[in-house]
Amino acid sequence: MRTHSLANGFAIQIEDVDLAAALDDETFDAIRTLWMEHRVAIFPNQNLDDDQLVAFTERFGPLFVHAQSSLLTTYKRKEVMELSNLDGVPRPVDYELDWHTDQTYTPQPVFGTILYGIVAPQEGGQTLFCDLAGAYASLPDSLRRRVEGVNAVYSAEPRPKVRETPLTEEEKARILDCTHPLIRTHPYLKRKAIYLSPLHIKTIGDLSADDSFALMQELTDHATQADHVYRHTWSIGDLVMWDNTSIMHSRTPMPADQKRYLKRTGFYLPDDLAVPF
Ligand SMILES: [Fe+2]
Repeated sequence: MRTHSLANGFAIQIEDVDLAAALDDETFDAIRTLWMEHRVAIFPNQNLDDDQLVAFTERFGPLFVHAQSSLLTTYKRKEVMELSNLDGVPRPVDYELDWHTDQTYTPQPVFGTILYGIVAPQEGGQTLFCDLAGAYASLPDSLRRRVEGVNAVYSAEPRPKVRETPLTEEEKARILDCTHPLIRTHPYLKRKAIYLSPLHIKTIGDLSADDSFALMQELTDHATQADHVYRHTWSIGDLVMWDNTSIMHSRTPMPADQKRYLKRTGFYLPDDLAVPF
């Protein structure tokens, strides 16, 4: 296994490891430690079928299933989501996505998300990763005082038209807004990070919706400075995983003629560590 640190050390490229193989415990533990310390791990040149992708994912924790079940109907298995704009796909994913952290609006949010590249665009469609642990560490005191010890309300639809596929009535009744600490502590490393998800945060502390939005914008401007952002350009066979306690992500636009197809899996924390704190 060879490693190569990227983006001020909050992302790491890990080469010469075959994730389709049955990894011995020592190799797996080394990967898990590197991933948690660096937040984003990139494994180029992988070749996994769905069973192998699920088997690799499941070693990290219970398999993630998306809360918005109406998104899952077209997939062969609910644990492997397909993000694709290929011809003939019933629900193409081709819109521009804002900064967000996955599933913050659920009581026990997904811990790690994995994307695996099947078709990569020549232009655009990059995934941007923002280091929210680094952003917390570099918060100016004036901003830190406003967020320390404060809770925020996270919603699947905090404002109209934030989702490509709006929630169904059943989902609206089931997926209720959630309150989490705005500063979250990593469940294993005890490292703090801003639990930032501009797509999902509805209100912060006792601020009005407008003041919450303004504070969220200030936090986002601080967090997304260039030295906290890693830009991933996809190649076929890339497997990229990130820690949703410490990273938010977004996608860059793509010209209309570009094709992109990624598979997505994820895993939860064990129940005793799963509630953000
Ligand atoms: Fe996402």
